Amino acid sequence: EEMTEEERKFQARVDANEKIEPKDWMPDDYRATLIRQIGQHAHSEIVGQLPEGNWITRAPTLERKAILLAKVQDEAGHGLYLYCAAETLGVSRDELTEDLLSGKMKYSSIFNYPTLTWADIGAVGWLVDGAAIMNQVPLQRTSFGPYSRAMIRICKEESFHQRQGYDIMMKMARGTEAQKRMAQDAINRLWYPSLMMFGPSDKESVHSGQSMAWRIKINTNDELRQKFVDQTVPQAEYLGLTIPDENLKWNEERGHYDFSEPDWKEFFDVLKGNGPCNTDRLTARQEAWSDGKWVRDAMLAHARKKAAAKVA
Ligand code: ACO
Repeated sequence: EEMTEEERKFQARVDANEKIEPKDWMPDDYRATLIRQIGQHAHSEIVGQLPEGNWITRAPTLERKAILLAKVQDEAGHGLYLYCAAETLGVSRDELTEDLLSGKMKYSSIFNYPTLTWADIGAVGWLVDGAAIMNQVPLQRTSFGPYSRAMIRICKEESFHQRQGYDIMMKMARGTEAQKRMAQDAINRLWYPSLMMFGPSDKESVHSGQSMAWRIKINTNDELRQKFVDQTVPQAEYLGLTIPDENLKWNEERGHYDFSEPDWKEFFDVLKGNGPCNTDRLTARQEAWSDGKWVRDAMLAHARKKAAAKVA
């Protein structure tokens, strides 16, 4: 397909690593792709509070509880930055929320898995936030200005989350036999769902080609998944825990670990709404939205009253 003059100029700016800002001209599909990805990302931060919030009341010590509270609050902040970045593209936060609640928009597959034990909170920090950073560090260089700037702060906080998760794992792995078993069980259940966070294999990824040409994405899904495995295996070894993959092996020739792909059928099932917690997660968000209606109404009424007073 022939590019128009505007599209050619736009692509040249992207190729020169210039940031695209909200008021600049951009192709409709660039805008739509960003709304989809940033919106999905924001929803993931918000829904991602649920599996962790589940353990705030049961954190084993006051210190762990304070840390977990801070982390869950960070996730709320990340969601809000990202909704703001999406709003600069001409979509409202209410529209995005409605699309999440109706099932039209997605959030990360990982948050449809339960957190059954305290060790899961460690594994979520270590593996899930570890995977999130692996994906988000390159996004600091994404072509859309507001998204790239949001990523800078988010990545700083996200790396603290990863460290706190690893710290929990270290405590568990060096604890009693029962604690060690719990830590191993958490890896066993969360390893493959963490690999799925990077999205389908490059062969199945619908959007990667165009998104990389526009520098909305900087790496392919498989590239980042491989980097994550390479980074995480030595960390598991240091903990003395086993990654549940018999095919996991250092490949001298490639300079990477060989590993088993996750069960992609399970991934697509979870995306269709059939994961273990999809219904719970959406119900919790629907309740939060309807329970919060009086607050939104009251704030709007107050803002209108103040604006009217200013005019008078
Ligand atoms: N969970 C849910 N849906 C996913 C996932 C996932 N882990 N991976 C891919 N998908 C969806 C895509 O949204 C797309 O569906 P759609 O067309 O209906 O929107 C479909 O699967 C095909 O995948 P791709 O073509 O590879 O999609 P894309 O190019 O958007 O790549 C990726 C997916 C890598 C997740 C990308 O969107 C991205 O980098 N997003 C920003 C990071 C992010 O959202 N992180 C959230 C989790 S981390 C956290 O919140 C703590």
